[in-house]
Amino acid sequence: MATPKFMFFLALLLPLVLSVNGNGLAVGYYSRSCPQAESITMNVVKQTLAVAPSLSGPLLRMFFHDCFVRGCDASVLLNSPTNQAEKDAIPNQTLRGYEIIDRVKNALEIHCPGVVSCADIITMVSRDVVVQTGGFSWNVELGRRDGVVSLLNDALTNLPPPTDNINALVRSFRGKGLSVKDLVVLSGAHTIGIGHCSAFRNRLYNFTGKGDVDPSMNSHYVATLKKICTLNGPDVFVQMDPGSSKKFDEGYYAQVSKNRGLFQSDAALLNNAETKAYVLAHKGGNQESFFKDFGVSMVNMGRIGVLTGNAGQIRKVCSKIN
Ligand code: HEM
Repeated sequence: MATPKFMFFLALLLPLVLSVNGNGLAVGYYSRSCPQAESITMNVVKQTLAVAPSLSGPLLRMFFHDCFVRGCDASVLLNSPTNQAEKDAIPNQTLRGYEIIDRVKNALEIHCPGVVSCADIITMVSRDVVVQTGGFSWNVELGRRDGVVSLLNDALTNLPPPTDNINALVRSFRGKGLSVKDLVVLSGAHTIGIGHCSAFRNRLYNFTGKGDVDPSMNSHYVATLKKICTLNGPDVFVQMDPGSSKKFDEGYYAQVSKNRGLFQSDAALLNNAETKAYVLAHKGGNQESFFKDFGVSMVNMGRIGVLTGNAGQIRKVCSKIN
């Protein structure tokens, strides 16, 4: 028979056991093996964004680009001697901030060598970017291990292009186990950062191959964008949430609701009843609910295809397998 003392001990343990989800991830995963992991990571992100605020966009985007391709396994960080890795694929050529991940990794290797995976570093950094740019924090689930494969073609086939319509976007997210709500919430990440003309020039000059403009885009916005992104001009960039692109807020939904979403994939959120309702409910004055939803959806995205237990490895250097 279990003694009362033993039962008490069990009751203390239960929350710890329950915090491990079905994928083997857990909040506070490194609390014993590397207690400072989260604070060290946060400090690096804080210091980085203080001097280079434009890295917030690419560092948040990196989590998405990692998780959608072979799961959240840091495959996006691997280098290939023949330029055939995920990072060499066109959608990843505008990713930046790899050196910040390395900086976190170096700091963690000094404190607890061989313990914290690069996949978890990307995860923690994405949360810290949101916090440092004005969003709410959330508990990150950790315990991912790093993959050993990274293929250019996987990035091309798994990352949704900015020309996707709503059906393609829903299919893409569903294929990763994410819901329509996750799609509209995570698209809110476009409240920070920039987009290059090449990602939306077709909307300004040649939408259906007849030299036409995307009729779903606000005509004043089209005119403004045309001045920056000329037909045959250089591939410069614009802020996705003009005037507040370094601040994590719900400005993105205000933009989309006014037909000023930059990409077709942003505008597409008005073409589905559920996503449209979310956009309209968050176009102003409902920021707290977006902030809370964002943490939930980031946790959901962080569960995609994770390697745990004995799978994969803990890389020593994030850009190469051990
Ligand atoms: C729904 C499908 C999505 C599509 C089609 C899409 C597409 C794009 C494109 C084309 C860019 C511009 C890149 C450039 O020109 O430099 C971009 C930027 C960005 N995306 Fe997405 N994205 C999607 C979802 C997401 C998600 C889920 C996140 C993160 C949760 C995210 C975070 C970002 C961020 C932060 C930037 C700014 C990058 C920077 O400042 O360099 N995106 N996205």
